[in-house]
Amino acid sequence: MSPISEAPDALVARHAHGGRSLVAVLHAIQDEAGYVPPGCVAPLAKALNLSRAEVHGVLTYYHHFRTEPPARVTIQMCRAEACRSMGCEALAAHAQARTGCAFDAAHGDSPQAGAVAPGDVALESVYCLGLCAQSPSMTINGVLHAKVTPEKFDALLADAVAHAQEAA
Ligand code: FES
Repeated sequence: MSPISEAPDALVARHAHGGRSLVAVLHAIQDEAGYVPPGCVAPLAKALNLSRAEVHGVLTYYHHFRTEPPARVTIQMCRAEACRSMGCEALAAHAQARTGCAFDAAHGDSPQAGAVAPGDVALESVYCLGLCAQSPSMTINGVLHAKVTPEKFDALLADAVAHAQEAA
């Protein structure tokens, strides 16, 4: 995944081929660019012989797809039943306090902001990662982590932020 560096038309031309479905093309674009730029909707509709409304509808229906660039560290914390039974809501509160980010919202607006730079981190809720027996669980930039304690969260966060800043 790298920051988008070219026009949406070029992204669409590279991925909308070979009988691929719209969902497959959206995955391919997001895998490459980190998100699906809204400017892709019209060229996707043209390439796949769909209406813009159909493309927009699919793009916005599936929670996985994002239409804005991701934070450098994206944390997806499970907030479903098994993880709740093992304290994920307390962990979520800790994560918010530690990062200054709000879940599933624009971040950097908390009075406790400052633990990490705004734009570095995003907190997202997900609903079961299949690690229910090792909850609470989360992914950080797509990598699974199980049995996460507040202390483990802090260490994982520090590693991920440092790695992201090195890569920038
Ligand atoms: S409920 Fe959290 S991994 Fe299944």
